[in-house]
Amino acid sequence: MSRRLKDKVAVITGASSGIGEATAQIFIDEGAYVVLGDIQRDLGNEVAARLGDRAKFLFCDVTREEQVEELISEATSVTGTLDVMMNNAGIVGARAPIDQILLDEFQKTLEILVTGSFLGIKHAAAKMKEQESGSIINMASTAGLSGGFGPHAYATAKHAIVGLTRNAAAELCRYGVRVNCIAPSGVATPLAAQAHLGDFTAMDKLRETLAGNSPLKGRAGTAEDVANAALFLASDESGYTNGHCLTVDAGFTSGSKATDPQHMASVPFMREAGKEGLED
Ligand SMILES: NC(=O)c1ccc[n+]([C@@H]2O[C@H](COP(=O)([O-])OP(=O)(O)OC[C@H]3O[C@@H](n4cnc5c(N)ncnc54)[C@H](O)[C@@H]3O)[C@@H](O)[C@H]2O)c1
Repeated sequence: MSRRLKDKVAVITGASSGIGEATAQIFIDEGAYVVLGDIQRDLGNEVAARLGDRAKFLFCDVTREEQVEELISEATSVTGTLDVMMNNAGIVGARAPIDQILLDEFQKTLEILVTGSFLGIKHAAAKMKEQESGSIINMASTAGLSGGFGPHAYATAKHAIVGLTRNAAAELCRYGVRVNCIAPSGVATPLAAQAHLGDFTAMDKLRETLAGNSPLKGRAGTAEDVANAALFLASDESGYTNGHCLTVDAGFTSGSKATDPQHMASVPFMREAGKEGLED
């Protein structure tokens, strides 16, 4: 077994389920201690118990500053350092045409996704600046890189997370602290099952749907795909990577599609006014 995070201490928010849970598993497998934070208490305690004595669950609502602080001080009490902070907690939030979104739902979406990430960055940065090391990983989305990938409030929040990642990276680099984010798309988790199928438990059906729409033939995104990207950003292997947004999206945002692009069919060389070939 490789030990890419040997004795590193990590905090992961939104770790009771999906990507956060899978990341906690991989971080532990690679030798880390992980403090898991989430508002799903029973599930979080079950996950931590399964992960063993290198894992601890704490109830943490990422919109509550004192709870985020408590999560981080729990982690720093393990070995005295905080090596990795993964701001992953999320919801889909408000979903409606732009002229019908309720203000309080729009604001709540931003509060959980943006303010929650900000609080995690803020309190991790305080500790990491002091120790002059650390890796902060924020959870963005392809909806934060281009229009048309998610509901309005969610897309707004995820664009903000990409921006905050870059700005925090620009400040914290001088302390040896790196800040990066991950932009997944179409990953089989309860959040995506609810968003795509209206049933957060319909995982088999979701995998089938995602595989059918994937640019990578028949390949749905998994929580482990994103966890492995987080592992790279958490480990010293990414020591020169800062302010980056790492897509885990089968190429969606760079133009890959599930259907054959018509312009890649083989036809004679195309010239002006319908002429074909290199010469008349
Ligand atoms: N699944 C995808 O396709 C996908 C794509 C792009 C980005 N993401 C992002 O990945 C992250 C994880 O999502 P997931 O797909 O694993 O979903 P998930 O629902 O399985 O996990 C999200 C976790 O966040 C927790 N959470 C929600 N509100 C919270 C709060 N206020 N405080 C603390 N915890 C809270 C939930 O309880 C849950 O355990 C989210 O930020 C999401 O936006 C997911």
